[in-house]
Amino acid sequence: MKCAAVLGATGVLCAILCACQRGPVAPLGLPPPPGTASTAQADLGRKLFMDRRLSANNTMSCAMCHVPEQGFAANELGTAIGVNGRSLRRNAPTLLNVAYVGSLFHDGRESTLERQAWAPMLNAAEMGNRSVQSVAAKIGAMPDYAGRFEAAFDGRGPDRATIGAALAGYQRTLVAANARFDRWRYGHDAQALDGAEQAGFAVFAGKGRCIACHTVGARAALFADGAFHNTGIGWARSQAPPRRTAVRLADGVFAELDERDLRAVSDPPQADLGRAEVTHAPADRWAYRTPSLRNIALTAPYMHDGSLATLEEVIDFYQRGGIDNPLKDRLLQPLQLSEVDKRNLAAFLRSLTGDNAVALARLARRERIDHPIPVAPSAGLAVRVDAVPK
Ligand code: HEC
Ligand code: HEC
Repeated sequence: MKCAAVLGATGVLCAILCACQRGPVAPLGLPPPPGTASTAQADLGRKLFMDRRLSANNTMSCAMCHVPEQGFAANELGTAIGVNGRSLRRNAPTLLNVAYVGSLFHDGRESTLERQAWAPMLNAAEMGNRSVQSVAAKIGAMPDYAGRFEAAFDGRGPDRATIGAALAGYQRTLVAANARFDRWRYGHDAQALDGAEQAGFAVFAGKGRCIACHTVGARAALFADGAFHNTGIGWARSQAPPRRTAVRLADGVFAELDERDLRAVSDPPQADLGRAEVTHAPADRWAYRTPSLRNIALTAPYMHDGSLATLEEVIDFYQRGGIDNPLKDRLLQPLQLSEVDKRNLAAFLRSLTGDNAVALARLARRERIDHPIPVAPSAGLAVRVDAVPK
């Protein structure tokens, strides 16, 4: 009503303004983002996300496994490596567009970003914290957080709910769409995709049958059906676990160890049953959530275990119909794609990078990350880096 009074007869403008007031505007290619945090909460969440002091020994930030420049995933590792070099069993997924993911984790075991954030913080192999309380107390004692939570959360300090809400609020800002594909399909810009990419989309929606699971709607595309499917990768891994596993020796320095050497330095990664670990239904063994394909060019390696290095390898995998096993999804059958089809399909997949992916990474890197390391009362050996002469 207020809108109408101000703008009078200019009904169209009014409708646009009213839509803005109602909620966040949908980026081209995606539906309106579900739920948003205040700017103060999201900014605080970004600071937490980039902060290594969030791990027990001050070495691992969220951003070390969800690397901003690598599509908020990790290009160097098939399966992630956590605190003290411990090996995890799964690939770190992208956090771009995670606001739209209903069931979080490759097996869908978590449903809110607020709760999810505590899983890595408390996991012994990821960030290794003892308890929610120890994290909240540590943050509460760090001078650069003084007053930040209180200002963002109506006077409330760091606790389970506010830390979770800040991290969730930041992650919901990681919306990356308006890709060239979106401008072509939803923005009606016929030039936004070249001939090969358009032909690649025809393969995707046609004889490649990719669209059956990586869905594309009339007004928006999540490239995911929110369901779980057995493609055979998890099953194959259960039959013959990989002989060699990557471990982190130092930041950016990795080595491949075989099973025996690995046991000497880390627990071997656990077996992985996929969705069945959540539902306990035998039929769900080795089924994993369909991931979105947005920003896929940024987030190699692929699949829940990072076992396929390139998009070309992924396409060859589908060409063979996945890996046969008694529980394989019936939608996966060998395909008859020509070499040209395969090239075009890969070109199309590379047109799905959001136009703001670089800007989101830059914004993350504006956070200061060289904070003084807090000295834990009991840790006699901790070194204060601010006490070291420059
Ligand atoms: C040691 C590496 C590592 C660290 C540190 C880490 N993550 Fe992750 N993250 C992973 C892996 C691996 C998965 C997938 C695990 C699974 O599916 O079981 C994951 C999954 C997620 C997911 C689910 C995404 C989806 O699409 O389902 C979110 C959200 C997430 N992490 C956020 C965070 C936040 C926030 C932090 C910091 C508090 C963090 N992660 C720290 C490795 C890490
Ligand atoms: C039966 C459903 C289904 C069909 C059909 C399908 N996919 Fe997938 N796709 C999945 C699932 C499930 C995963 C995750 C598997 C895993 O994590 O092990 C996946 C993973 C991927 C990935 C890796 C994503 C990532 O972030 O790691 C790419 C790329 C991909 N699919 C492309 C395609 C293409 C191209 C086609 C058509 C040739 C296709 N998919 C057909 C269900 C499907």
